[in-house]
Parts: sequence; C-alpha cells; structure tokens
Amino acid sequence: MIKIKNLSKLYKSGQIQVEALKNISIDIEEGEFVSIMGPSGSGKSTLLNIIGCLDHATDGTYELSGNRVDELSDSKMSEIRNLFIGFVFQNFHLLPRMSAIRNVEIPLIYRGMNKNKRRELSEQALKMVGLEDRMHHLPSQLSGGQQQRVAIARALVGSPSIILADEPTGALDTKNGSMLMELFVKLNDENGITIVQVTHEEDIANYGKRILRLVDGEIVLDTKKQWREKNV
Ligand SMILES: Nc1ncnc2c1ncn2[C@@H]1O[C@H](COP(=O)(O)OP(=O)(O)OP(=O)(O)O)[C@@H](O)[C@H]1O
Ligand SMILES: [Mg+2]
Repeated sequence: MIKIKNLSKLYKSGQIQVEALKNISIDIEEGEFVSIMGPSGSGKSTLLNIIGCLDHATDGTYELSGNRVDELSDSKMSEIRNLFIGFVFQNFHLLPRMSAIRNVEIPLIYRGMNKNKRRELSEQALKMVGLEDRMHHLPSQLSGGQQQRVAIARALVGSPSIILADEPTGALDTKNGSMLMELFVKLNDENGITIVQVTHEEDIANYGKRILRLVDGEIVLDTKKQWREKNV
C-alpha cells in the first residue's frame, strides 16, 4: 500500500540545511499497524507528513495504493490525501466554533457531498467512536479524550484506507490514551484500516504490530511482531 524508496528530505532555511530524512526505504502493507518511535528531531513528523501527502520529499519515490505521489502537483496530492488518508494530530485540530458533527463533516464538504449524505455519514462516524450523545457539543464542551475521538471520527468519515496519527495520545492522560489505542486496535482489526502512528511512549507503541525506530533521519530498527504486546 505504501512503498517508499530512497526517500530524502532536506530543509533549507538561509544558510542552514537540515537533512531530516536520509535515504529511507519502507514498505507498509494494507492492514498493518505501525508505530514510529525515535528521539525528538529524528524526522518522525517529517516522515508522517510525507506519507500523508502533506509535504513533498526532496528525493526518492513514494507510491501510495499504486499512485506515484512524488510526481504529483500539490492539488493532485491533496485529492489523494482526501480520498485515502485520515490524519489525527496531538492537539486535535478541531474548529472551536463548530459542533462535533460539523467538524466531522468538513472532509465531506471538500468532496462536494450534499448535506443529508454528509450528516448521515458524520453521525455514523461519531457512533463508531462512541460519541452519538455528544454530536452537538462544541469542542470546549468535551473532554480531551472526547475531542480526540471527534478528530478520529473526522479522520474516518471519508472511509480512508489509512489513518496517520502524530502523537495522538500526547495530550491525553493514561486512561484516555489507552481508550484511544483500543479504538485504533478495533479499527485495525475489525475494519482493516492501516494505521501508522508516531509516539514517544513504549506502552502506546506496543499496541502496534510493527515498530520503526528513527534516529537522525534514518531507520535504525524495524521490528515486526506476530502478536500485539498490548492486548485489549
Ligand atoms: N519546516 C522546517 N524547516 C526547517 N527544518 C525543519 C522543518 N521541520 C522540521 N525541521 C527539522 O527537521 C528535523 C526533523 O524534524 P521532525 O519534526 O520530523 O522531528 P520529530 O522526530 O517529529 O521530532 P519531535 O519528536 O520533537 O516531534 C529537525 O531537526 C527539525 O529541526
Ligand atoms: Mg514530531
């Protein structure tokens, strides 16, 4: 599903150059649950943003579900992102003045879907994350864990094949963090959604079945497991 070959990312600002990713190659199959770990500044978010079609690599090739993404224009890239990818961020990125359900509808508005269909799909997505009784609440009227579940409903509403999450439990306490991971496990096991998450926490990483470790822009370890270490 994801095929990355000899990928590099160079950031240039003035005289300073940072090689955030150095000649990385990875394949991720459909249905995998991958956790990316590594020290601060090792290139985890850079890699996730490239996988998520939010950014271009400097060098190398990237194929997503058979599409050569590295050759696409920014607008084509956002089309691909809208179709295949759901993004989840550490700080939820919800629009504060919009209710939960309106936040969830946003990706469908970009697809030009009519209002009734949008409502129906958004309600279903909120049900999947257990928030059917909070649909008309504003983000400020929800707990952190609930806000992150709204963000996940928004990521799910367009039926993506992949969910990408950058430190999704970073702003949550342990209990909400494990609830979120249980939801990811369910989406992965029951709905076959591919998940790639970045985390600093071993415990959270262990919900995945494969762990990639980045150091200084390079993959230093790639461990695949038969079983989850964390069972839910
Ligand atoms: N827009 C940018 N311009 C210039 N340099 C950047 C930019 N974004 C990231 N970098 C640099 O690239 C390197 C990798 O950054 P990245 O954000 O991918 O790290 P990370 O592993 O996600 O770190 P953290 O765990 O702190 O989130 C860092 O050295 C960073 O300073
Ligand atoms: Mg980061």
